[in-house]
Amino acid sequence: MRVLIFGASGYIGKRTAIRLLEAGHDVTGYVRSEPSAQQVRALGAAAIVGDLEDKTMIDAALAAHDAALWLAQLALPDEKRVIGDYLRALRASEKIFIFTGGASVLSEPTRGEWSETSFAETDSILPRAPLAIRAETEYMVRTAMQSGVKSMVVRPPLVFGHGGCKVISDIYHSARRTGAVCYVGRGLNAYSSVHVDDLAELFVLALARGRAGALYHCVAGEASFRAMATTIAGRLGVGTKSVSVEEAQQIWDKFSGATVFASCSRLRAPLARAELGWRPSPELADILEECEHPAYATETERTLASWIKPASIG
Ligand SMILES: NC(=O)c1ccc[n+]([C@@H]2O[C@H](COP(=O)([O-])OP(=O)(O)OC[C@H]3O[C@@H](n4cnc5c(N)ncnc54)[C@H](OP(=O)(O)O)[C@@H]3O)[C@@H](O)[C@H]2O)c1
Repeated sequence: MRVLIFGASGYIGKRTAIRLLEAGHDVTGYVRSEPSAQQVRALGAAAIVGDLEDKTMIDAALAAHDAALWLAQLALPDEKRVIGDYLRALRASEKIFIFTGGASVLSEPTRGEWSETSFAETDSILPRAPLAIRAETEYMVRTAMQSGVKSMVVRPPLVFGHGGCKVISDIYHSARRTGAVCYVGRGLNAYSSVHVDDLAELFVLALARGRAGALYHCVAGEASFRAMATTIAGRLGVGTKSVSVEEAQQIWDKFSGATVFASCSRLRAPLARAELGWRPSPELADILEECEHPAYATETERTLASWIKPASIG
């Protein structure tokens, strides 16, 4: 299959391109700069350099591929607008379009407490205000099947592996910022997680067997923020520290402090297992092992996600 990846130069995009190439697909990354194109070509994929909003280039790129996979990271309103344009361009094509969202839409603001709620794909969710727009984008993608697009949504939780997890990087950042590894409240809030290579495998299966209009979760385990903080503190030889939500917003940023570090986000993936036959690899399931990856300890400053607006930095 000829597969176009938006965001092929990113963390998940690269690992997915590698896995799709291994599975025998022709892969093209649509990227915004020549340095990103070089990274994509180094993987063995082709590259198109262009703007995500250049209608002529996008229409041509979509027309030349059998499937498109969204793995770029934009501000959520931009994401919704761009995805709407792509779905209109794909109308009546019966081509595959897979949108990657995220499990933050179902996270609960527990201020560091555990929640027993865990969401399957068929469970209804009530996203918090900043995330409602992502749920709207998911809905738009799933209903595009009615206009002749084989569209699907994949909702990963925290993605880790190969030393590239941004949340683990952020936990290390809290030690650089305060001298101790921080968590919110009692730190019992758990976040579901999956190894990036298991997520890449889910994309391979979704291209082969995915159902138009489907939502697939992708989860292999979970850990509490306190467990992650304790593991990282052991690695760094420093202590841990409980902080308030407000302090967390100062240490990280307004969005991450409240929506990631103070929240509980737990999910299950019965549809991905039943319809795609997806199974996470047991040996890749432990995010606490990933917390000890040497790459994180050598970072010297925080890499801010591209969609976090400077105004939200505390
Ligand atoms: N990582 C996670 O734990 C996680 C969890 C759940 C969901 N997700 C979702 O998965 C997707 C990919 O995440 P990721 O962690 O792989 O992100 P990432 O490493 O930050 O990569 C993002 C990609 O988007 C591209 N990009 C960023 N801003 C852009 C812009 N304005 N115009 C065009 N391209 C732009 C980047 O291209 P350049 O190379 O040119 O910068 C890069 O290829 C996102 O939608 C994210 O919400 C991620």
